Amino acid sequence: MIPIGSDIAVAARYLNEGECVAIPTETVYGLAANALSEKAVAQIFELKQRPAFDPLIIHLASAERLEQYVRVIPAAFYKLYEAFSPGPISYVLPKKAIVPDLVTAGHPTVAVRFPAHPLCQELLQTLTFPLAAPSANIFGRVSPTEAGHVAQQFSHGLAYILDGGPAKVGLESTIIDLSQEKPLVLRLGGLSLEEIESALGEKVAYTKSSSSNPKAPGMLSAHYSPGIPLTHGKLDLNLAKVNRKRCGSISFCKRISGIPDHNQRILSPKGDLKEAASKLFAAMRSFDKETIDVILAEEFPNEGLGRAINDRLRRASVS
Ligand code: TXA
Ligand code: MG
Repeated sequence: MIPIGSDIAVAARYLNEGECVAIPTETVYGLAANALSEKAVAQIFELKQRPAFDPLIIHLASAERLEQYVRVIPAAFYKLYEAFSPGPISYVLPKKAIVPDLVTAGHPTVAVRFPAHPLCQELLQTLTFPLAAPSANIFGRVSPTEAGHVAQQFSHGLAYILDGGPAKVGLESTIIDLSQEKPLVLRLGGLSLEEIESALGEKVAYTKSSSSNPKAPGMLSAHYSPGIPLTHGKLDLNLAKVNRKRCGSISFCKRISGIPDHNQRILSPKGDLKEAASKLFAAMRSFDKETIDVILAEEFPNEGLGRAINDRLRRASVS
């Protein structure tokens, strides 16, 4: 059993010793280690069973020491940083040599994030190095939004799980590439495209996930598998094909007729996309394999965080 607690000093001690520790952030829990130590970072890849071509995000308390790690900081960074950091956004910037190639999977850029979670902030402030941290799940599975989810996936290899309660945002950070002339969103996440566009005062392009996009390997289409087949789309079409008694459902604000109540996950009865986002991953992992053959997930409104919710559900449905 991996020890779980909320003692920052314990977490810091293990991280200083080069161990892996699960950390709470406002988006999802991370599997963290010293980003400047190849040996520590190698353990993350091994524990997660993550392919080495998929780069990691580094986490800092603030931009105060950012220049140690990146070569160029464009004006767009400061605009977004002022508006949204600390918070659910990661910035891809040209890296300096101090950031190990293992962290960036050989890319000349590094993704940097400043998490808002108070416990995580406090931890980062006590450390002299950034933390490399992917979501704390086995590669390809649903990201953990509670300390208990991490404990369910890992039985060893982690020194400690720092418990900061349920993640408030519940979707991974939005990743924006600022290393090219034009900003490009590589992954939709906890910060909406609309908010980014309004802070930058311009339209921003985003890449859709694919099975062969080397620019954002984590955008591989088959990801977020809940371990039970999931279909995503118009509910009435999919409902016609299944035995409703053995169905689970994920819907935005309405009940679905014919599906037993205890198999329904209505993410926000009041119709709030932020609330729905915060509940999505816990809902995806809450179904019982013995009694459920298929999960039917509704198409959410394609705006605000609804876009990122649809992205995760679409990828969970590819198997
Ligand atoms: O909210 C989050 O971002 C969470 C928390 C723990 O901070 N982290 C997270 O990490 O979701 P991970 O490893 O599951 O996803 C990071 C994604 C990967 O898909 C990777 O492809 C992309 O970030 N990425 C990292 N560095 C990159 C780079 N230099 N260029 C392009 N994409 C990069
Ligand atoms: Mg992940």
